[in-house]
Amino acid sequence: MNHIKHVAIIMDGNGRWGIKHKNSRNLGHKEGIRTVEKIIKSSIKNKIKYLTLYAFSTENWKRPKKEINFLFNLLENFLLTKISQFNKQSIKLKVIGKKNFSKKINLLLKKSEKMTLKNKKLQINLALNYGSKSELVHSFNMIKKNKKTINEKNISNYLFTQNIPDPDILIRTGNTQRLSNFLLWQLAYTEIFFEKKLWPDFNENDYNLILNKFKKIKRNYGNI
Ligand code: IPE
Ligand code: IPE
Ligand code: MG
Repeated sequence: MNHIKHVAIIMDGNGRWGIKHKNSRNLGHKEGIRTVEKIIKSSIKNKIKYLTLYAFSTENWKRPKKEINFLFNLLENFLLTKISQFNKQSIKLKVIGKKNFSKKINLLLKKSEKMTLKNKKLQINLALNYGSKSELVHSFNMIKKNKKTINEKNISNYLFTQNIPDPDILIRTGNTQRLSNFLLWQLAYTEIFFEKKLWPDFNENDYNLILNKFKKIKRNYGNI
């Protein structure tokens, strides 16, 4: 049986869910928060150590301003209401991606990271303004700047995910089979599960089915 240390999730399908049920993409994002809470709970139950959630990509800035503002308001509310509870549950929050948001959001993110820094139960990596290609370019530039050798270890060490083991499982909800610039380096040997359900419809049972399926996979890493 494979042990699960790290699950990464592309939480896709909020907009379509919102249009279908409430005639509003934004209300789909709001509903998506409930799934986030369920999956965090379930990850703790399953003793998973790292949960990486793709919340906003570098490409998502192309969206209408109204939707972007709504998303960041949701994030702000989510953190303001949940962070002390996370802290009590020994959840550590780490942002992966460039923190160049409003002053208020940057401060809140930094405060949340600092408050939960020493927590050990579950580490949530929140991918915000995250893009894998720019992350890799940044890593190569850091290697050059520090006059280091280009090798796999050094490339990994200058990514946002330094010291975090590569994901065992990637889940993408929303019935789309692509990576959308997410963790291109880190996913080299990850088992990938594309889920038809939209993110707000995804539940603990769907999650457990995937975790159980993963446990039985024969991971070869090139061997036989
Ligand atoms: C994913 O849901 C959440 C974010 C990108 C913030 P989408 O908003 O992409 O939902 P769909 O794919 O349009 O339904
Ligand atoms: C990926 O979803 C990004 C997040 C879930 C945050 P998108 O909906 O932005 O991906 P594309 O644009 O359909 O590839
Ligand atoms: Mg989408």
